[in-house]
Amino acid sequence: MADERIALVTGANKGIGAAIAAGLVARGLTVVVAARDAAKGAAAAQEIGAQQVTLDVTDDASVTQAAKEVQERFGRLDVLVNNAGISGGRNQVPGAVEMDTIRAIFETNVYGVIRVTEAFLPLLRQSTDARIINVSSGTASLGWMTDPDHGFAARGTMAGYPPSKTALNMLTVQYAKALADDGITVNAIAPGACNTDFATALGITLDRTAAQGAAIAIDLATGPDRPTASFMSDEGQIPW
Ligand SMILES: NC(=O)c1ccc[n+]([C@@H]2O[C@H](COP(=O)([O-])OP(=O)(O)OC[C@H]3O[C@@H](n4cnc5c(N)ncnc54)[C@H](OP(=O)(O)O)[C@@H]3O)[C@@H](O)[C@H]2O)c1
Repeated sequence: MADERIALVTGANKGIGAAIAAGLVARGLTVVVAARDAAKGAAAAQEIGAQQVTLDVTDDASVTQAAKEVQERFGRLDVLVNNAGISGGRNQVPGAVEMDTIRAIFETNVYGVIRVTEAFLPLLRQSTDARIINVSSGTASLGWMTDPDHGFAARGTMAGYPPSKTALNMLTVQYAKALADDGITVNAIAPGACNTDFATALGITLDRTAAQGAAIAIDLATGPDRPTASFMSDEGQIPW
C-alpha cells in the first residue's frame, strides 16, 4: 500500500540528498526535492517523480517561502531530511584557517539546519508521525576522533567541517529533547564516505555510492521503529 507521507529533502538535486529522495519515492512517499538552484531541482525531481521547491538553507526569505509553498500544497510535513551541506574545501587546517571558510561552513551545516527546522516545525507538528533526519558525518564523532585505534587517528585535521557536524549532532539531541512531547523524532545519520561531488572536490575517489550512504536515512524515515536522539550509520549506533 502506498505511503501517503510527505517528505522534504534539502540539497536533493544531487549526491546523497538525491539518493535519499529517490529512495523515499521508491517507498511510496510524496517527496519534495528542495534545491537552491530551481532548474537543477526541477530536473532532479522530474527524474525520480518528485515535486520540487527552491530552497537555499542560508537564506531566510528562501526558507520561509519554501515552507509557505509546502503549507499551501500539503498542509503538513511528515519527514524533514536536513541533508544540504558543504565541506568548505581545504582552507580550514588548524593553524592556517581562513575565517570566511569557517563561517560559510557553519552558515550552511549548522545555522542552515536550525533555519530550515524552525521554518518547517509548524508543518511537522501537523503530522501524526513526524521525523527529522539530520545528515551528519562520522567525522562529527568525538568518540571516534579521540580513539587512537580508529581510522580517523591518521587523518588530517580540519577546524571547520568536523566541528560543524559535531554541532549538528548536539542540535539533534537538543531538538529531540525539545520535541519529544510533540512526538517528533530527531536523529543524526552518518552516510559514510560516498563518491559524490563533495568527495571529488576534495580530490578523493571512493567506492561507496550515494545510494549506499542514503540507506540509513531512508530506513529511519520510513521504518517501523521510531528511535530519537540517536546517531546512526548503516552499521548501527555511532559514539557521539
Ligand atoms: N560524500 C560524503 O562522503 C559524505 C560523508 C559524510 C557526510 N556527508 C554529508 O552528506 C550531505 C550531502 O553531501 P553529498 O556528498 O551528497 O554532497 P554533494 O554531492 O556536494 O551535494 C550537496 C548538496 O547540498 C546542496 N547545498 C549546498 N549548499 C546549499 C545551500 N546553501 N542551500 C541548499 N542546498 C545546498 C548542494 O546544492 P548545489 O548543487 O546547488 O551545490 C547539493 O545539492 C552533506 O551534509 C555532507 O556533509 C557526505
